[in-house]
Amino acid sequence: MNILLLGSGGRENALAWKIAQSPLLTKLYVAPGNAGTSAMAVNLPFKADDFQAIRQAVLDYSIDMLLVGPEDPLVKGIADFFTADALLQNIPVIGPNRIAAQLEGSKDFSKQFMLRHKIPTAGYFSVNQSNIDDGIAFLENLNPPFVLKADGLAAGKGVLIINDLQQAIKELREMLSGKFGNASSTVLIEEFLSGIECSVFVITDGKNYKILPEAKDYKRIGEGDTGLNTGGMGAVSPVSFADAEFMRKVEEQIIIPTIDGLQSEGIEYKGFIFFGLIKVNDEPYLIEYNARMGDPETEVVMLRIKSDIVELLQGVANGNLNEKSIEFDPRYATAVMLVSGGYPDEYEKGKVISGLDNISESIVFHAGTSEKNGQVLTAGGRVLAISSYGNSKTEALKKSYLNAEKITFDKKYYRKDIGYDLE
Ligand code: AMP
Ligand code: GLY
Repeated sequence: MNILLLGSGGRENALAWKIAQSPLLTKLYVAPGNAGTSAMAVNLPFKADDFQAIRQAVLDYSIDMLLVGPEDPLVKGIADFFTADALLQNIPVIGPNRIAAQLEGSKDFSKQFMLRHKIPTAGYFSVNQSNIDDGIAFLENLNPPFVLKADGLAAGKGVLIINDLQQAIKELREMLSGKFGNASSTVLIEEFLSGIECSVFVITDGKNYKILPEAKDYKRIGEGDTGLNTGGMGAVSPVSFADAEFMRKVEEQIIIPTIDGLQSEGIEYKGFIFFGLIKVNDEPYLIEYNARMGDPETEVVMLRIKSDIVELLQGVANGNLNEKSIEFDPRYATAVMLVSGGYPDEYEKGKVISGLDNISESIVFHAGTSEKNGQVLTAGGRVLAISSYGNSKTEALKKSYLNAEKITFDKKYYRKDIGYDLE
């Protein structure tokens, strides 16, 4: 079959790498892709949310399945666009429709969903211009730190954690006045949960689901989890504290109520669900849903899925995921992200990357790269994910770090402590 994958990050390179191993695949296309996906797929030169160009490509290249990497096209309704088009409606889209993608697209929607289905999560209050005084009163009754979240998509920047009450009140007013544009016309104030985070993923056809290998992401730019939030600086799978007992609680208290809740509300969901979890005194709480896979988590999760991913995707498309099996690779997988100096603030692009031919015992996934005159150039904040297998976490990390050294570009930066906090 021919598959079109949307997106251009490390997540998409890892998905493409895994899909390309499937005997069920005839040809893989990625739009727009990057210098990494071009090694295993045909890159198509249009953006992941250019619906008309996607439509044309599906028809021109006889695409049999669309797999959506990032959240933007989902929240904008790419699945609904397919359903509404006579020529596209029989082409399965792996990714939820516009309403279902609200689990990620609106934090207010997702919190209400969690409450309706008794899914453990932080207490919250939803504020807009009309109830600002009630919002301030709610803040005054909380203990610091204070968590403020823009309701809508804010490119990963919409969550503020503030220690000082007066500062929190000031930020709340600024958010409601458009600090994140429309995304913060509604703001959630949340109770702060203290614990350790991990990411759990399922793939679902709407009724049946398969749990994928869990992962831990390292979001801060600095070692020891300090400094600004980034898209993610590295990942590890498995996660030592996500033991069988913890995962049983996650499945019973969070995954099953989510799948059942979607069904009982008549919300059709086909695709990946990303559960952003925090473990507080041995109990899992759901911080957020994402309607897609995580990045850089995918750069370790794909290494740990032994089964044919295309078969699983077909199970999603055909509604018979229960007839498919998923097998994990027992080895550890680690990913270390090489980023542009300055990221997540201002950074330069267009730096020549060298050393890509000297890699051994790691898989390099491109996150933000482009190709020009036969050279690979940096084209984003997160540039490359160096992913490795190991019989232990230490062995996998050793390979990732060895290869991280071999690759060079001007102002390259990476965290040297990925996985440091896990056993
Ligand atoms: P989100 O975009 O909702 O995942 O939030 C980004 C990050 O903020 C999370 O990964 C957590 O580290 C942190 N965070 C969000 N909500 C809370 C909360 N209620 N308590 C503690 N930390 C939180
Ligand atoms: N790694 C976090 C995310 O993909 O949102």
